[in-house]
Parts: sequence; structure tokens; C-alpha cells
Amino acid sequence: MPKITIQDFLRKKTEKKKITLLTAYDFPFAKIVDEAGIDGIIVGDSVAMVVQGLENTLPVTMYEMIYHTKLVSRAATNAMVIGDLPFMSYQASVEEGVRNAGRFIKEAGASAVKIEGGAEVAEHIRRMTKSDIPVMAHIGLTPQSIHRMGGYKVQGKTEESAKRLLEEAHITEDAGAFSLLLEAIPMGLAKRITGELSIPTIGIGAGPYCDGQVLVLHDVLGLFERFLPKFAKRYVNLKEQALTAIKTFREEVETGTFPSEKQSFK
Ligand code: KIV
Repeated sequence: MPKITIQDFLRKKTEKKKITLLTAYDFPFAKIVDEAGIDGIIVGDSVAMVVQGLENTLPVTMYEMIYHTKLVSRAATNAMVIGDLPFMSYQASVEEGVRNAGRFIKEAGASAVKIEGGAEVAEHIRRMTKSDIPVMAHIGLTPQSIHRMGGYKVQGKTEESAKRLLEEAHITEDAGAFSLLLEAIPMGLAKRITGELSIPTIGIGAGPYCDGQVLVLHDVLGLFERFLPKFAKRYVNLKEQALTAIKTFREEVETGTFPSEKQSFK
């Protein structure tokens, strides 16, 4: 199967076929996601929380994001790899943002980047797109803004904030984004944005009417225990399965059942 491109994303929207994405942060999990036929892998800054064990996404660095994106790119033969610009990799200036976006493509093997924000990053999106770096914009709940937002709260619930998000969505499209991620907004608003834009919308906590859906892999697999957002769905409890396997190994070693002759050399 050839690698999924931004043109495939746009085609899927036109053909009303749903786009599927998941996050991944390392080779083995990215390989599983890729083999499952998922269209895109976002190497999210959520790595800070679900892999690094941090409180929020703010501390993760460009160095770490490049490292994780390299691991994922090595595994993804079909899925489009999208590197997530971490906090303070683009906020200080457009130039810095463009350079860091370029690193995801040049050093880490990604085909696109994701950036949080609407109007305030419109120029970043424009300049990245002009530099041939496809950009997925991300509006609604943007976790890099938790301190301004006062926590992980659903956005666009008032008429005024919904209107603003609709405007922001158009701004990102006009700036050249190839797709728009909508996080934690009412489904009616997501439906309206999806209907008005010609680029695909990817929802996470934005209801069923988006052109595609993304979830954090560790939520899907039951590997992140601290909390499960209302919008996430745990499809398997890998933590429980891993725990059982590891306890069995410990018991077998302690009781002398492992290794047996089968695992030994003569
Ligand atoms: O960091 C992340 O995992 C995200 C998701 C919304 C894809 O931004």
C-alpha cells in the first residue's frame, strides 16, 4: 500500500470516507497502528503525559519530539506521520516555528506537522505551507494553553466562543492548513465547521460529524490510568494483560518452572 498523503485526506473528505488517526510514540506501537490500516499517526506532545509520566504536555522538548517522531517514522510504511510542535517551539516567532516544523520533516521523517492555535498561528501556517511543510491546525481545547484556559475544559459552549471558533477554523483553512483538528467542542459546532470547510476536520471529543477521528493510543489500549477523558474509549486493557504476564513470569522463576529444558541449551 502506498503511503497516505495529504491528497488522500482531502479525497476522503470529498468521497465522504472517514479518516482514522491515532497517536504513537515508538517503533513497536507505531508498527501495530500502521499494520491496522490507520491513515495517520500523530506523534503527539501527549507523549509527555502518557509516556514520560508528566503532569501536562508543557515540558516536552523539541529534542524529545524529534526523537519519538524518528522512531515512529521508521515503523510507518503506510500511515502519514505528523509531528506535533511542542510548547515554545513556535510561540516566540514565526521563523523559529518554521525552522522547528522543518526539523520534523528533515530530521525525523514526518510528512506533516500539527500546531495548536487559530488566528495567532495563521502566519506560521502560511509560512510553513509556503515552505512545503503541510500543516494540521488544532483548535478548541489546546492543551498547551491550559494555564490560560484554566484546565482541560470543553470549548465553544457559549454562542460567542462558538462564533470565534468558527472564525478561527476558516482562518486556518485560509492560511493553508491541509486539515483541522477539533478538540473538545460541542458536536453541533464541529458539524457546522466540518460542513463549512473544504479541508477535513479531525475530531477528538468533537462528536461523530467530523471527517475523521483521532484518539490517544494509550487511552485506546488501557495503558494510561491517571484519567480517561469522557470522549476517549478504552478498547482493551493492556495494562491488566501485561500485569498478568509479568506476574506469571515472576511466579515461574520463583517456583523453578521457568526456564524449562525447552528454553535451555544442551
Ligand atoms: O498530543 C496529542 O496527542 C494531541 C492529540 C489531540 C492528537 O494533540
